[in-house]
Amino acid sequence: LPDGQALTPPMGFNNWNSTHCRAEFNETMIKGIADLFVARGLRDAGYQYVNIDDCWALPSRASNGDLVPDPARFPSGVKALADYVHSKGLKFGIYTSAGTKTCDTLGFPGGLGHEQQDANLFASWGVDYLKYDNCNNQGVDARARYRAMHDALVRTGRPIVLSICEWGENRPWLWAAGTGHLWRTTGDISDSWSSMLGIFKQNAALAGYAGPGRWNDPDMLEVGNGGMTDTEYRSHFSLWAMMAAPLLIGSDLRTATPATLSILTNRDLIAVDQDALGRAGRVVRASGGVHVLSRPLANGDVAVALFNENAAAATISTDLREVGLGAGTYSVRDLWTGSVDTTASSVSAPVPGHGTVVYRLSRLSTPSAPPAGVTPLSDLVE
Ligand code: DGJ
Repeated sequence: LPDGQALTPPMGFNNWNSTHCRAEFNETMIKGIADLFVARGLRDAGYQYVNIDDCWALPSRASNGDLVPDPARFPSGVKALADYVHSKGLKFGIYTSAGTKTCDTLGFPGGLGHEQQDANLFASWGVDYLKYDNCNNQGVDARARYRAMHDALVRTGRPIVLSICEWGENRPWLWAAGTGHLWRTTGDISDSWSSMLGIFKQNAALAGYAGPGRWNDPDMLEVGNGGMTDTEYRSHFSLWAMMAAPLLIGSDLRTATPATLSILTNRDLIAVDQDALGRAGRVVRASGGVHVLSRPLANGDVAVALFNENAAAATISTDLREVGLGAGTYSVRDLWTGSVDTTASSVSAPVPGHGTVVYRLSRLSTPSAPPAGVTPLSDLVE
């Protein structure tokens, strides 16, 4: 949406990938995450939204029709939780479905037909972000369902980011830029290499549709949830940053390992993800499980990812032309190790199995610029 929100992909946390609807999803957890965002430097690294997912409400609305927070999970209520999150200098997000019920089998009430009442309630609680799911949608046209919530949110007068979660079923990249700020492009991610890889391939093909205020959403991060190796999680984070994906942490940070925290707080990768130009990286070559991605950045630099889908280590090479750069000399900084090299032609790296090397290339000089003190030939010919 061109309303000045989400000019870069949203960054934050959502509990779903780590808890689903288990009882550990409660206000103690969410407050603990907000505390850690501050204490462990995640807020300073750019993470902003603390979002709750399905199962926060009771199965029935109140007699006035309002949604009711589950008092077992949220004894202080959602307004108090949002206030707590705001007191930490963070923003708060909530969830419901563009259907009669949410997705969980217990059947919590959805927003279809209740858009204005629910939007008003969320605004009164200080909600900054709404994830709007797709379950139990009664076959109503997706554009109409998401448009109705968009309009209701606008009428509250509160800026609220709208995350369209219809799993790519209605090709939202073709219409949702006028309705929400991000749209899921795929089904749900799970904490496995094959899930992450499949979602990467689907989402990367849609790069041309992303831009400031309108992002492809390949689903939330699984980094730290235990089903992949740290090398695989570094690939996951690298690819999401290259694709200008929302970076929503999906692991319980209260038990995060040092490796998980260092992946999630890699400032150089976050800077790629959050680059102000807002152009998603494109796959410039993919064959035999080797993927080269290139992403132009606002200051003229280019981020290049060398991604090895295969289990065996491989040397992956590209060159300036393939990644969209003109002739010249460039510094080549490895965004995982910090090491710096220079090149005037090729870029190459040994990449472990399931690994990704990401470089940031910055122009040092162009061949047409003569060395200082040398009179250009063009000035001598007259
Ligand atoms: C489906 C969504 O895609 C998930 O991210 C999660 O929100 C669940 N529904 C919750 O039921």
